Amino acid sequence: MTDIKKGLAGVVADVTAVSKVNPETNSLLYRGYPVHELAATQSAEAVAYLLWNGELPDAAQLAELRATERAHRALADDVKAVIDLTPLGAHPMDEIRSAVSALGARDLAGTGSVLDASGTPEQNLERSIRLFAALPAIVAYGQRRRRGQDLIPPRDDLDYAANFLWMTFGEEFDPVVVDAFNRSMILYAEHSFNASTFTARVITSTLSDLYSAVVGAIGALKGPLHGGANEAVLHIFDEIGDADNVVAWLDDALAHKRKIMGFGHRVYKHGDSRVPTMKAALDTLIAYYDRPDVEALYTTLESEFVARKGIYPNLDYPSGPAYNLMGFDTLTFTPLFVAARVVGWTAHVMEQTAANALIRPLSEYVGPDERHIDGFVDEV
Ligand code: CMC
Repeated sequence: MTDIKKGLAGVVADVTAVSKVNPETNSLLYRGYPVHELAATQSAEAVAYLLWNGELPDAAQLAELRATERAHRALADDVKAVIDLTPLGAHPMDEIRSAVSALGARDLAGTGSVLDASGTPEQNLERSIRLFAALPAIVAYGQRRRRGQDLIPPRDDLDYAANFLWMTFGEEFDPVVVDAFNRSMILYAEHSFNASTFTARVITSTLSDLYSAVVGAIGALKGPLHGGANEAVLHIFDEIGDADNVVAWLDDALAHKRKIMGFGHRVYKHGDSRVPTMKAALDTLIAYYDRPDVEALYTTLESEFVARKGIYPNLDYPSGPAYNLMGFDTLTFTPLFVAARVVGWTAHVMEQTAANALIRPLSEYVGPDERHIDGFVDEV
């Protein structure tokens, strides 16, 4: 029997220069830069530039990217129409998947046969920037629609993070909150060959287009073992309610062999490198909104679970409550992950395209031995 690496665990599938996850040193580098340094000093736009181009932008390059991003922020009428057609009861990830598909059909209209689908490097960079620019309006409008509120047009005088919050809530947030949100977008932007990024690379490897790769990646991210975990963390917090209930809740959850969302990771086994930075951002929000109850629940569940299972929190654990404090609906958390991770996905699409090989693994057949239809007479 072939040695099968179930879930491709431990399999090195290709090289990448986009990011490096090192569980031994508990570090994550984007194009060589530690992610906590980027989160503390850079804008989401500058980090997007870095991930796409390999270097941080100078002032002129950043200004140019910002101008292009601002020019593509508005929600196109036909994409809005697709969102409006989605049932209000649908999960926002289904809505956003359809919206990105519509955006792709719109952008690719007239590009010709499938033979041209993969696009030139210049076209793919433009498409990446367009998606990065358009997703905040899609996510923001989705939440507003579910709340029975109208679309808020973008503001040209605000940077990416502040404008994202503006389009969602129609409010200018305190810089403390904008900074925490910007940090979360940077921390979520990229994480090597995770399930959704690998999905995007598989689709790209067939010479399909960048939008198809992102639509597939959104489908992969929706699952609670991946991006859906940030939403699931809040469901758990809501179930527990108060720090005093943690022990009894955990006894019951573990007795029923439940997975505790926001804990564990395929690669990091001693703690997720992004958690300290996101927890610091959460601490700032807890102080700003004066919510010691959130701190108590967070730390009690963490210490109890780590003590019992030796499994540590991942990024979704601090980001869930952080987005909740900012005022986002729980169902919007995974779409926020999409808006951030689209940068990493598209960086990988461009890397895969530049040195492509069709991704087509083998399987070991374990079904019935060859058998035949009764009375079948072979005609050839
Ligand atoms: N709660 C309870 N038990 C867990 C958890 C958890 N969160 N995570 C791992 N375990 C146990 C698991 O039950 C198994 O135990 P046993 O060997 O007794 O069967 C053991 O630890 C190994 O777990 P695994 O699921 O086989 O390990 P994996 O490397 O396939 O899983 C994981 C990684 C992220 C899928 C898993 O830790 C998990 O399901 N976590 C909860 C979901 C979650 O938070 N996902 C977000 C991941 S990070 C952000 C992202 O990439 O999107």
